[in-house]
Amino acid sequence: RILERLRLDGRVAYVTGGGQGIGRAFAHALGEAGAKVAVVDLVLAKAEAVACELSLKGNLALAADVSKPEDVQSMVDAIVARWGTVHIACNNAGINLNSASEETSLEEWDKTFNVNLRGLFLCCQVSAAGRIMLNQGYGKIINTASMAIVLQNPYFNYYRCYLNQLNLYWEGVNH
Ligand SMILES: NC(=O)c1ccc[n+]([C@@H]2O[C@H](COP(=O)([O-])OP(=O)(O)OC[C@H]3O[C@@H](n4cnc5c(N)ncnc54)[C@H](O)[C@@H]3O)[C@@H](O)[C@H]2O)c1
Repeated sequence: RILERLRLDGRVAYVTGGGQGIGRAFAHALGEAGAKVAVVDLVLAKAEAVACELSLKGNLALAADVSKPEDVQSMVDAIVARWGTVHIACNNAGINLNSASEETSLEEWDKTFNVNLRGLFLCCQVSAAGRIMLNQGYGKIINTASMAIVLQNPYFNYYRCYLNQLNLYWEGVNH
């Protein structure tokens, strides 16, 4: 009975960074629970491979760079064109380049914040999946963060900065 309550039949979900790792596991879990899953990744071939693993559920593979507004909009448009809506947004795409504070380049800093924070904002905001959820009065947004936020590790310094920003942003959205 508990498992029945966790079923997601008829729900439409997407997972960014779904082409490997934690995102791939999210895609499998959502698919196993019965949801239709759009697997989204920077690299289309990776998204296609995971969508293929879930092929019995009739899934969709999409290429999108979550740091680009036009890609995020195209992603949502493609999902709506296929399934009419979005119920579950799994904003998982993220990078951690793991450099010591004194070695972190501006390029690394910008890339991390662009993909992890700007990308998450673009996916959550009203112009993307969030607007659809607000209009239909239902939606679940899952943002992948990290326990690195509590680690005192110099290699995680700017990564932890982004995680703090994510928490503050999400706290505000939920208020
Ligand atoms: N691996 C860990 O130990 C760990 C721990 C805690 C949190 N996280 C977080 O979990 C998430 C997934 O981690 P992972 O280890 O599975 O990562 P991973 O590097 O294994 O996979 C990330 C996927 O995201 C894709 N991607 C990268 N940039 C993208 C972009 N701009 N747009 C769309 N897709 C993009 C990559 O192609 C890749 O397929 C990340 O947000 C990461 O910060 C990871």
